[in-house]
Amino acid sequence: MFSAVSLLTTVLFALSTASSPVEIRSPLITLPFARSLNTRDGTVNLLQHDQARATALRGRGIATAAGELDRRQGSILVTNEVAHYIAAVGIGSPATTYNLIVDTGSSNTWVGAGIPYEVTSTSVDTGEPVSATYGNYSFSGKEYTDTVTLGCLTITQQSIGVASQSAGFSGVDGILGIGPEDLTVGTLTNEPSTGIPTVTQNLYTQGTIPAEIVGISFEPTTTTSFRNGELTFGGVDSGKYTGTLNYTPLTTTSPASRYWGINESIAYGGTTILSTTAGIVDTGTTLILIASDAFDQYRSLTGAVSDSATGMLRITTLQYIALQNLNFNINGVTYTLTPNGQIWPRSLNTYIGGSSSYVYLVVNDIGVGSNSGSGLYFVNGQAFLERFYSVFDTTNARVGFATTPYTDAITN
Ligand SMILES: *[C@@H]1O[C@H](CO)[C@@H](O)[C@H](O)[C@H]1NC(C)=O
Ligand SMILES: *[C@@H]1O[C@H](CO)[C@@H](O)[C@H](O)[C@H]1NC(C)=O
Repeated sequence: MFSAVSLLTTVLFALSTASSPVEIRSPLITLPFARSLNTRDGTVNLLQHDQARATALRGRGIATAAGELDRRQGSILVTNEVAHYIAAVGIGSPATTYNLIVDTGSSNTWVGAGIPYEVTSTSVDTGEPVSATYGNYSFSGKEYTDTVTLGCLTITQQSIGVASQSAGFSGVDGILGIGPEDLTVGTLTNEPSTGIPTVTQNLYTQGTIPAEIVGISFEPTTTTSFRNGELTFGGVDSGKYTGTLNYTPLTTTSPASRYWGINESIAYGGTTILSTTAGIVDTGTTLILIASDAFDQYRSLTGAVSDSATGMLRITTLQYIALQNLNFNINGVTYTLTPNGQIWPRSLNTYIGGSSSYVYLVVNDIGVGSNSGSGLYFVNGQAFLERFYSVFDTTNARVGFATTPYTDAITN
């Protein structure tokens, strides 16, 4: 059991504390993870990637709801190539460590994009082909079951995809899918109609964690690669947030309801720019995307201009001083994104093709108006999650948020 610990050298063991709102009967499985900006191509178009992902998630959600999912379009496909949160996950016995993107927007776990899958005594080839293409990303291969090691504990007979070919993924080995379980439905030719059990589901059914809950701690970073995230299975890490953890039920509005979907409204200062509506919380999106009409209002209220080089909104340093809070109202609780939380880290301006003399905003356009009936009108991406602790709670069908020591920090 402890052989994997040497591979995951920085694994932390966190015990429950009395202040934790979730009753934990066993140690939490806590996995550190790093944010990595993909510097392969020099500058990157963040916005293009994020909007493509939002469109793909919406399209897949609608197809799933209608039972029309093309099986080749598995849940795995939409990933942000720009800013990954990556966790080291052990697979096999002895375990090989793979660097997997932590993705709340998909639910299959797969490897093989980077280092080849290592077959060991615990590997079982199911013979089931798995193939997925979406936009610029794809992989194909076979489904295996194998032992998966997350921190110090193991999941046996976890279904994993093993890619023999993949395109669009670089610097990572695959995905750790922690989206809702239903997203696995339709990803294999002969799978059960209930889909494939996810890592979180197996941790629970195998008695390893007391509830199907994943807690995620991000922190803002101003460098291209920084190990600052923490993923907790089975509960929340009360050392990572301040104040009260508040929950909101999962939204019933489709297609946001296919993901970690919630209802929220957004106000800039005292002006509501997005009335209560459905959207998603997503670790695989870098920016905060909002409905086009809300975005237009945000642009005009901040005085920002669209920057043609980056696609981002741009303000001057004087306008930055005048920037007001962006208030997210979620189930009666206001989560305030400060002016500093609304800007892209200035030390990374040139990395996205911007100029060091401007200030770029992390709020952008999701590409559909809030009257469009699309059912997915915002994405609270990494820019939001770096300022608020988040909890993805399958057991109680809810998402939780809390402030952190970084909520009001001046880091950007
Ligand atoms: C996808 O590929 C096309 C053509 O190769 C390219 O023009 C486009 O920028 C790519 N899109 C993304 C989001 O990488
Ligand atoms: C969310 O909003 C929709 C309408 O936009 C509403 O029908 C639903 O009851 C709200 N609450 C939940 C939990 O979905």
